[in-house]
Amino acid sequence: MRSFPSDFLLGVATAAYQIEGAVHEDGRKPSIWDVFCHTPGHIENGDNADTACNHYHLWEHDVRLMEELGIEAYRFSVAWPRVIPDGRGQVNQQGLDFYRRLTDALLEAGIRPMITLYHWDLPNALQEAGGWQNRSTADAFAEYADVVLRTFSDVVDLFITLNEPWCATVLGHAFGTHAPGIQDLRAAVAASHHLLLAHGKAVGAFRANARSSAKIGLTNVLTHVAPASDSERDEAAAHRMDGFLNRWFLDPLFRARYPAELEAAGIGAWVQPGDLECIASPLDFLGVNYYQTSIVQDNPNDALLGAAVLPPSGNLTEMGWEVHPEGLQAVLQRVSKDYGPIPIYVTENGAAYPDVVTQGQVHDQNRIEFLSQHLQAVSEARKNGADVRGYFVWSLLDNFEWAKGYTPRFGLVYVDYATQQRIVKDSGIWYRNLIQQREL
Ligand code: FCB
Repeated sequence: MRSFPSDFLLGVATAAYQIEGAVHEDGRKPSIWDVFCHTPGHIENGDNADTACNHYHLWEHDVRLMEELGIEAYRFSVAWPRVIPDGRGQVNQQGLDFYRRLTDALLEAGIRPMITLYHWDLPNALQEAGGWQNRSTADAFAEYADVVLRTFSDVVDLFITLNEPWCATVLGHAFGTHAPGIQDLRAAVAASHHLLLAHGKAVGAFRANARSSAKIGLTNVLTHVAPASDSERDEAAAHRMDGFLNRWFLDPLFRARYPAELEAAGIGAWVQPGDLECIASPLDFLGVNYYQTSIVQDNPNDALLGAAVLPPSGNLTEMGWEVHPEGLQAVLQRVSKDYGPIPIYVTENGAAYPDVVTQGQVHDQNRIEFLSQHLQAVSEARKNGADVRGYFVWSLLDNFEWAKGYTPRFGLVYVDYATQQRIVKDSGIWYRNLIQQREL
């Protein structure tokens, strides 16, 4: 039997662009994702997030749903292009008002809000000026962060600067599968430094103005990396892969330096005196998103790292990711050991399965098993000393899954996109019971 104490937060997570829709309303201007989605060939089925879950209009309904499920905390993101539509300058009060209404309703329902400042929707006006490759985007972010933090830190006490800078960097600027769709390693290296600098500057703004009981952190996606064999070559390859997947964003945050792999990739060209100290400003907590484990083999043919990730095998989710809860336990313990002590929230974890509606219900036993196993892993990591204080299921609702469009369904709640009807899945009911009983 695993139990979760009453102060361990059991929540759900979403992100603005994936659920809100209403992309042209109340002064919002395009983000890089609007532009990316409307360029043919980028998103499966030609999907876009113009309407998504229409949460911008159905937010009251969605808060009520959370209340019915007994959700304790809700991690959502604020859309920069709603609040400062041109990226810099004029603040759009209507944008702030939307999040104020949402926050007030959450608090009234007894749900603790956790605000992510940046979940990938950079105002497109800033992209036109070079986006994250341009150092001044870090200053623009600090200004935007200051506006949001000043507006909400009286009532919200958990803030996250960036969601998964690794994805924004690598998928957005090296692989080009995410917005802004750039395929250039040098661009990615520059973007990563400016994202981290933006984070550091926002933490500075927060410390200057926020009330002292409010907390700020950053969310990294962490991958458990293991060598395919105990040969020295595979172990060295796994170490390099870990540098690329994990230490790229952990070392600067916690040790004020980049790993050797990034030095070799030329990151030094972007670093100015004082940057690393700013980036390593102490965090109140680390957010960890966990989805995957990578088993790594030495591969001299791979130009980037001399390493290859073996194809996932065994029990896979609809994303093609292996169900591997031991990896979550491992990353939580690793972060605590190598970079702690640090309070941790699992800010995302969940699975996509091809859900079907039968007589108004969704029987997603596979998701219940997935979540239950991962929560057991969290409990095990806590027993072994990791200071994990909460767990947020990705996601409350089925939503727009970036380049994959609407096909993968991650929600505890099913969304019929044609009618915008919400149907609580069996996993939603299971989660409600777990929150009540606090035992697995
Ligand atoms: C993470 C993202 C989140 C969601 C999940 C499935 O990388 O942060 O928005 O798409 O993956």
